Amino acid sequence: MKIVVIGGTGLIGSKVIKNLRERGHDAVAADLNTGVNTITGEGLDAALADAQVVVDVTNSPSLEDAAVLEFFQTSGRNLLKAEVNAGVGHHVALSIVGADRLPDSGYLRAKVAQERLIEAAAQPYTIIRSTQFFEYLRAIADSATDGDTITVPTANLQPIAAQDVAAAVSDAAVSDPINGVIEIAGPAAIGFTELIRDVLNADHDPRTVVGVPHARYFGTELTDASLTPGPDARLGPTAFAEWLAVNHR
Ligand SMILES: NC(=O)c1ccc[n+]([C@@H]2O[C@H](COP(=O)([O-])OP(=O)(O)OC[C@H]3O[C@@H](n4cnc5c(N)ncnc54)[C@H](OP(=O)(O)O)[C@@H]3O)[C@@H](O)[C@H]2O)c1
Repeated sequence: MKIVVIGGTGLIGSKVIKNLRERGHDAVAADLNTGVNTITGEGLDAALADAQVVVDVTNSPSLEDAAVLEFFQTSGRNLLKAEVNAGVGHHVALSIVGADRLPDSGYLRAKVAQERLIEAAAQPYTIIRSTQFFEYLRAIADSATDGDTITVPTANLQPIAAQDVAAAVSDAAVSDPINGVIEIAGPAAIGFTELIRDVLNADHDPRTVVGVPHARYFGTELTDASLTPGPDARLGPTAFAEWLAVNHR
C-alpha cells in the first residue's frame, strides 16, 4: 500500500515509516522538509496522489493555546480535504488519552478539536489516543523547572515507549478504518514524581523534583484517572525501567 505519513520525520513519524517499510509498504514521509505544508496546503495534492492511507503525526511548532488550536484545526481541515480529493480511503491520527477529560488545557482542547474535525469529515478514520511518550519526559521536566527545582503533579501517568506507539499506529494504518478511537498506553501506571525522579537519577541530573498534588500540567490539574487509559487499552510491551536502562544520558 502507499501510505503517506504526514510528520514522517518526527519522533513517531520516522518510526512509523521504518516499521511500514519493513512490512513491505510504500511508506512516504511528508512534512516541511519534503515540501509539504499542511497549513498552507503546499505540496499536499502531489504527496497524496495514489495514496490509500494517510497517517497524521504532525505537531504544532508552538504550544501556546491559540497557536496550537489554529495549527490542528487548519492542518486537519486541509489534510482531510486533500484526502477526499485524492480518493484516500483511511485517515489515521494520533491523539492523547484523556484529551476530552481536561478542558482546562489549551493543548488538549486543540487535540479534541482535531478529533472532532476527523469525526465530522466523510473520510473513514482511526484515531489512536496515546499516553505520554517516555521520550517526552525530559521535555516535561524542563518545562516544569524553576532554578534547580522541578515541580510536577503527584498523579499517575501510564507512559509508553515511542517504538510501541509507532507499532500501534502502523498496525492501524494497515488495518481497516474503525471510525472510532483506540487507546494505547505503557504497561504500568507510575507516579508523575517518580517518573521524573527516575529519569533525572539515570541522567545524573542534580535538579530536585517536588511533587505537588495541585501542580498544573499543560494548564490543568490532574487526578490518577486524568491521563491513564480505560480497561480496553492496548498496552505496549516496553517497561519504563527497561527503556530507561538503555536511554539515559
Ligand atoms: N508527546 C507526547 O507524549 C504525546 C502523547 C500522545 C500523543 N502525542 C501526539 O503525537 C503526535 C506526534 O508527536 P511527535 O512527538 O512525533 O511530533 P514531532 O517529533 O514534533 O514531529 C512533528 C512532525 O510534524 C511536522 N510538521 C510540523 N508542522 C508541519 C506542517 N505545517 N506541515 C507538515 N508537517 C509539519 C514536523 O515536520 P518538520 O520537522 O519538517 O517541521 C515533524 O515531522 C502529535 O500530534 C502529538 O499531539 C504526543
